[in-house]
Amino acid sequence: MSEKRVVVAIDGPAGAGKSTIARRVADKLGFLYINTGAIYRALALWALRLGVDVNDLYRLEQLAKEAKIDLGADDGRVFLNGEDVTEAVRDLRVSEAASKISAVPGVRRALLGIQRSMAEQNSVVMEGRDIGSVVFPQADVKIFLDAEPDERARRRALQISQKGQRADFQAVTGELKQRDERDRRRSESPLVQAPDAELVDTTGLTLEQVEETVLRVVRARISNGKETRS
Ligand code: DC
Repeated sequence: MSEKRVVVAIDGPAGAGKSTIARRVADKLGFLYINTGAIYRALALWALRLGVDVNDLYRLEQLAKEAKIDLGADDGRVFLNGEDVTEAVRDLRVSEAASKISAVPGVRRALLGIQRSMAEQNSVVMEGRDIGSVVFPQADVKIFLDAEPDERARRRALQISQKGQRADFQAVTGELKQRDERDRRRSESPLVQAPDAELVDTTGLTLEQVEETVLRVVRARISNGKETRS
């Protein structure tokens, strides 16, 4: 029996737990996990390394067209022009630059094709800011993952300290707030909950509880939809 490809779109602000949850859910479902933030981060890293100004829209669009960005099939690794940049893209300066360059319409246009082609061959769990609204408006399942700002900052600070780095809670809070505002306010593909997305507020929930909730939504939507995966 031929199975239809399934697209699960998970959008939400920084620190809502999208990456962790999307990866776990993809694992459980046997789908490919695609972290689109990593694509924007890889491009931002390249721009930083080359000293390209974040206001140089033309040059940024050119870079986006030229960049060769790949994601490891199931290990969350990110490659920029063949180089493994998984660790480098997590840097705070890269987070900020990624948020800035992702507001450039030409950059978004150039990266749209890469994202769509990554889901051509497989069922996917794809996470980002505009997956349910722009990249895959016809996604089978759309989830908007959110949490109170304080809790998101706490989680992000914990992630940083678990890597053995010093996490300044105030600085992390400020960085997330600034990035969210920029991601929500940009005119091109802003961070938004698609009208047909299910809101999952993860405040006060454990990872296991969030995973269970998301899997419940996915299974309900897939079995109510046109396709059945048996
Ligand atoms: O998910 P993340 O925090 O790694 O994403 C980094 C930045 O990339 C985020 O601040 C905005 C941008 N981004 C985007 O504009 N659209 C996406 N689909 C994913 C990320």
